Amino acid sequence: MNLAVVVLAAGEGTRMKSSCPKVLHCICGQPILQYVMTEIEKLSPKETVVVVGHQAEKVTPILNKKVKVTIQDEQRGTAHAVMMAESSLQDYNGTIMVTCGDTPLIRQETLSKLFQLHQNKKAVATLLSAILSDPTGYGRIIRKANGTVERIVEEKDASEKEKRVAEINSGIYCFEKEELFSAIKKINCENAQKEFYLTDVIEILNKQNKKVAVSVVEDSTEISGVNSRKELAQAQTLMQSRINDKLMEEGTTLIAPELTFIGPDVVIGRDTIVYPFSFLEGKTRIGKECCLGPSVHLIDVVIGDKVQIENVVAEDCVIEDEVNLGPFSRLRPGTRVKKGAKIGSYVEVKKSEVGEKSKIPHLSYIGDAVIGKNVNVGAGTITCNYDGVKKYQTIIEDDAFIGSDTMLVAPVKIGKNATVGAGSAISADVPKDSLALERTEQRIIKDWSKKKRHKKDKGKQY
Ligand code: UD1
Ligand code: CA
Repeated sequence: MNLAVVVLAAGEGTRMKSSCPKVLHCICGQPILQYVMTEIEKLSPKETVVVVGHQAEKVTPILNKKVKVTIQDEQRGTAHAVMMAESSLQDYNGTIMVTCGDTPLIRQETLSKLFQLHQNKKAVATLLSAILSDPTGYGRIIRKANGTVERIVEEKDASEKEKRVAEINSGIYCFEKEELFSAIKKINCENAQKEFYLTDVIEILNKQNKKVAVSVVEDSTEISGVNSRKELAQAQTLMQSRINDKLMEEGTTLIAPELTFIGPDVVIGRDTIVYPFSFLEGKTRIGKECCLGPSVHLIDVVIGDKVQIENVVAEDCVIEDEVNLGPFSRLRPGTRVKKGAKIGSYVEVKKSEVGEKSKIPHLSYIGDAVIGKNVNVGAGTITCNYDGVKKYQTIIEDDAFIGSDTMLVAPVKIGKNATVGAGSAISADVPKDSLALERTEQRIIKDWSKKKRHKKDKGKQY
């Protein structure tokens, strides 16, 4: 395709009332600009230029290195923004597609169709329009009696009659380069917002008797622009149902899709069931026949097959096949839970390896540890990995048994098949096959309770 794309993303997004630039607000865990960039990349354009401005230093890092970035220091309107891209396109000749960074639902298919129509009609400008039941906020397409487009009028400049027009401007267009840049230089800012409107190009080209065409989008939700928090929430709902519908089509069961929040890059295998109130984000990958939720929050987690997880928060971890997690466990970055292991209620694991079929069923903190196979970690066990200055490692070898309420004061190693008695504070290595016990001997004071009861009966203090 002889195509260059210009993405307008310099605006502040005043209506968001935010300290974060609009295009970095997220839906389904990903900045809205990134959705637009992904669809554009699928078109394989010869050049992509992104116009950034407001907090450019925050926006630029999310862009692909192949993309050209140009700065619009002052946001003087969409036409002014497009002008900023001119120098980046000096060596390019052909069609320029202009898109906005704030329409995350747009699809590649729709952009391709727009480009094809533009080519077929041999137009100098083709706009993508939509028919909306509520066109409020958008620029309206004003057509001539013969049905061709005359101009676009912004909501703020529209008369009452014009406001009733249901056909709106998506903010996405194809232009022939030469005509675009010569028309843009004729635009002034005599309008309600005192801005240079790109939309004015249409009227200018019409007056020059240049061919302007329109492609009407089939699914009008695709062009939904995000300008306010309400529109952000609406875009989130639309994107979420798009993602969830696709997952269900591919064989995932979602018990309540409207209460299940899954990011665009998440992969889920067949016959996995996701219960509500689950958030699956980032590069999370889930295998087949798993059961997730209710209430799991997974960020960049790789999960094998037949894994059961309930009420869990996990980030940047690997969970192998047949693992059982939760309810109420937290796995922090750098954790690997191996095949068939179990991590139970109120257990936190950080940067540790839990070996095959090992169990940490209740109330534990495991940090910077390497745990072998078939290890049983009793309730309330804690790896004391931090002395206030440095972190230290705990090693528990295969088949070891750690009694309940053990403090493992790292660095420390528990040998293969060793046993640690309940309630011990272990600060030295335990050799294999041995028992380590560290607690004061039990005292028995005979009849102590009986005497206490006796005093109580007499109404005395004891
Ligand atoms: C724009 C269109 C409107 C259309 C709507 C579709 C104009 C004048 N109006 O209105 O007809 O219906 O999009 O969503 O074009 N931007 C810059 N620099 C600027 C101004 C804006 O880069 O100086 C960027 C913004 O970051 C945004 C995009 O251009 O991504 C659109 O700007 P916005 O202010 O949201 O325009 P709308 O009022 O929505
Ligand atoms: Ca907008």
